[in-house]
Parts: sequence; C-alpha cells; structure tokens
Amino acid sequence: MRLRFAIPAAALTLVGAAAAVPAFHATGPPVGHTGGFGEPTCLECHRGSDLNAFGGRVTVQGLPEVYGRGRRYQITVALEAEETATAGFQISARYAGGAEWGTPAGELVPVDSRVAVTLADTGQPYAHQTPEGSATANPDLATWSLEWVAPFVGGPVAIHVAANSGNGDDSPLSDLVYAMDVTIPPARF
Ligand code: HEC
Repeated sequence: MRLRFAIPAAALTLVGAAAAVPAFHATGPPVGHTGGFGEPTCLECHRGSDLNAFGGRVTVQGLPEVYGRGRRYQITVALEAEETATAGFQISARYAGGAEWGTPAGELVPVDSRVAVTLADTGQPYAHQTPEGSATANPDLATWSLEWVAPFVGGPVAIHVAANSGNGDDSPLSDLVYAMDVTIPPARF
C-alpha cells in the first residue's frame, strides 16, 4: 500500500502555479534532472517521499562493466515501484573525469516512440519518456528501451538515471522518485 500524504495548503498553491504552465511535460521532463553532476532529480517537483523510498528502485539493464569504444549497447531502464499509474525517467551519459568531465559521452539513441532525446542548452543530451512512454501496462514495473553508443575516445563514463512513479492524479505530489548512477571505464586493449 502506498502511503498517502496530507497535502499542505502551500503545496497546493505550488501545484496551481505549475499547472498554469501549458503542456508541462508535453516534450518530456525538464532537462537536467538526473541527479548527476550537481543536478537535482525529479524530486524537485515530484514530492511525497524521500528519494529511493518504499523498497522500489530504478536500474539500467544491459550496460557493460567496461565499455568497448564505439560499441552499441541495448539498454533498458526499469522502474520497480508500487502502484505506478504513469511513469517517466531521464538518463544521461557523461565523462566522469579528466578534462572532459561532465561533457556528453557517446550517444543515447531511442529505438521506439516511448523514448525521445532532448538536447539541453548546454549541449548535453537527455533521453526520457515521451507522453506515449509514460503509460505503464504493469502497476509494479515500467521499462523503457534505448541504445547507448559508447564513445570512441576518452575515459570513464558516468550514467545517471532518475525515474518517477506517478500515481496518476495529474499532480506531482504523492509520487515516488528513484535515482541511481554507475561509472563505466573503457576496456583496455
Ligand atoms: C519543474 C517541476 C517538475 C520536474 C523537475 C519534473 N516534473 Fe514531472 N510533472 C510535473 C508536473 C507539474 C506534472 C503534472 C502535470 C502534468 O502532467 O503535466 C508532472 C507530471 C509528470 C508525469 C505524469 C505524466 C505526464 O507526462 O504528464 C510523469 C511521468 C513525470 N512528470 C515524470 C517526470 C520525471 C521522470 C522527472 C525527472 C526526470 C520529472 N517529471 C521532473 C512537474 C515536474
């Protein structure tokens, strides 16, 4: 059972303000919310519990332990959480060190209409759910498939993902937010 929280009046005012923004998530969540490199997560707006609460989790399947230069990996972002009515995620791939620290590493490529990529003003691409991809067939599991093409040059790559399990009430309250990250070094030849 997901706990429901009493909504303070101040929070209701905030929701009113956010709802006034036209087509808020029409093109996906706002960029820069993976939790990586000093970014906030979806928790900035999707409130209701602590990050990574209630025994749910977000994972990324298919990532290698060391990456092959220029290799293409089929990956799946999996969000396990109770009572998910709508769900979303955002993922980024950036260099974890050296002179390229925090710059895009390789390429994130959608494979179907459930996932799209948005380029931030900084030049950083973020892959995320589309409106179509926010529907979940299973109340305990949401998945999104995409590809990560590893870079041809450079060092370790940090993958950051944040995901949100929404209860379908058309507000960002009482949602569950999960995040994780992994750093993948290049293979030695
Ligand atoms: C700046 C505030 C804000 C941030 C940050 C934010 N959201 Fe939202 N989100 C909203 C609001 C407001 C709604 C409800 C209105 C709506 O559905 O457009 C919403 C609704 C949603 C929904 C419900 C379905 C939909 O598409 O409308 C999903 C899924 C979602 N957000 C995912 C995310 C994910 C994943 C992140 C983090 C990567 C995120 N959001 C970050 C404000 C935010």
